[in-house]
Amino acid sequence: MCIVGARPNFMKIAPIMAALRSEQCHLDAFLLHTGQHYDKSMKHCFFDQLGIPVPDMDLEVGSGSHAVQTAEIMQRFEPVLDEVKPAMVLVVGDVNSTIACALVATKKGIPVVHVEAGLRSYDRDMPEEVNRVLTDQISDMHFLTEKSAHENLLREGIDDSRIHFVGNVMIDTLKNNLSKAVTPEQILSEIPNKAVFLNSKTGYGVLTLHRPSNVDNPEVLARLLETLNEISKTLPLVFPIHPRTAQKIKESGCEKYLDTDRIIQLAPLAYHEMLGLNSKARLVLTDSGGIQEETTALGVPCITLRENTERPITVDEGTNTIVGTDPVKIRAAFDNVMQTGGKAGKVPELWDGKAAVRIVEVMEKWLTDNQRH
Ligand code: UD1
Repeated sequence: MCIVGARPNFMKIAPIMAALRSEQCHLDAFLLHTGQHYDKSMKHCFFDQLGIPVPDMDLEVGSGSHAVQTAEIMQRFEPVLDEVKPAMVLVVGDVNSTIACALVATKKGIPVVHVEAGLRSYDRDMPEEVNRVLTDQISDMHFLTEKSAHENLLREGIDDSRIHFVGNVMIDTLKNNLSKAVTPEQILSEIPNKAVFLNSKTGYGVLTLHRPSNVDNPEVLARLLETLNEISKTLPLVFPIHPRTAQKIKESGCEKYLDTDRIIQLAPLAYHEMLGLNSKARLVLTDSGGIQEETTALGVPCITLRENTERPITVDEGTNTIVGTDPVKIRAAFDNVMQTGGKAGKVPELWDGKAAVRIVEVMEKWLTDNQRH
């Protein structure tokens, strides 16, 4: 049984479901959506574009505080496990759906597989970090995107035999979809001053923001948006806005920083649109985890508006620079990219589009050895 809940899960589950349902695989796959993300822009388009099968079940939990959302998923998930009786539960990433389903499954004695295990920001203020640490502790099989995660897991007492370095399923999806990416010309076709953004000499930057640490505190949000407004005077920015960020900008009266025709505000984009936009950008400014990896795979400079990253390979080998929220540091990193073109970077080991196939092979062997299906 594979679990998805929130937007970043969809690009991870797509290649896993494809590998599970391929002719080479002898396992049955059940797809369960918790319904953590429910907006059309956050959900449906990903299933269509990425060819994810319609979920066999949708728990429709929706939004809530972390406690309410996690508890609601757990309560609704338990009877499904009793009914379906899977041999294994596979969770991806670090969202509330990940920990909620892993916890219910493990207490029922059902082995848990964690894809994208071992990543650590060592920042427990991030809800995702808590979800990562706890999910890894209760998982039976850990699939890694980068080798730094191996050390992290060993340090936390995870047995080496459970750890498998397989590469990055998010990059499987990127590679599978690059030829279907929508061009920036198409994405911006309705925008009156699109010529500014599509000028091949200056180019455009892409901005995404949604971390609670950046958008929930009105002072931090204002400081960031003021800096980004300044940056847009040099490089026009395209800003697809996550629903929680849109809500916080409104509540904190920060709309004034976006009141410029050098920043285009868009609703959250579907996968092929975001991929097309990022792949042709001069640089990307973000607080997302996945986008740090995607820009590294695309060779596009990334400036990360966080104090840390759980994906250090994007900094050590890729195109990523961590700057936090200090306006001086953001500006310096931005000027550097504009002057030098940014870090060249290389694509990390095993980010080759075949991670999901490796995962499914290991799972199938494990299930055969343990005679669970
Ligand atoms: C979640 C993940 C985060 C991931 C992000 C990507 C956790 C702890 N966080 O954060 O790791 O990077 O998804 O998007 O699981 N909302 C809508 N429509 C939706 C979903 C959310 O309007 O379809 C709004 C609601 O106001 C909601 C808020 O966004 O309260 C937060 O949504 P939630 O799923 O709790 O967390 P995210 O911030 O999206």
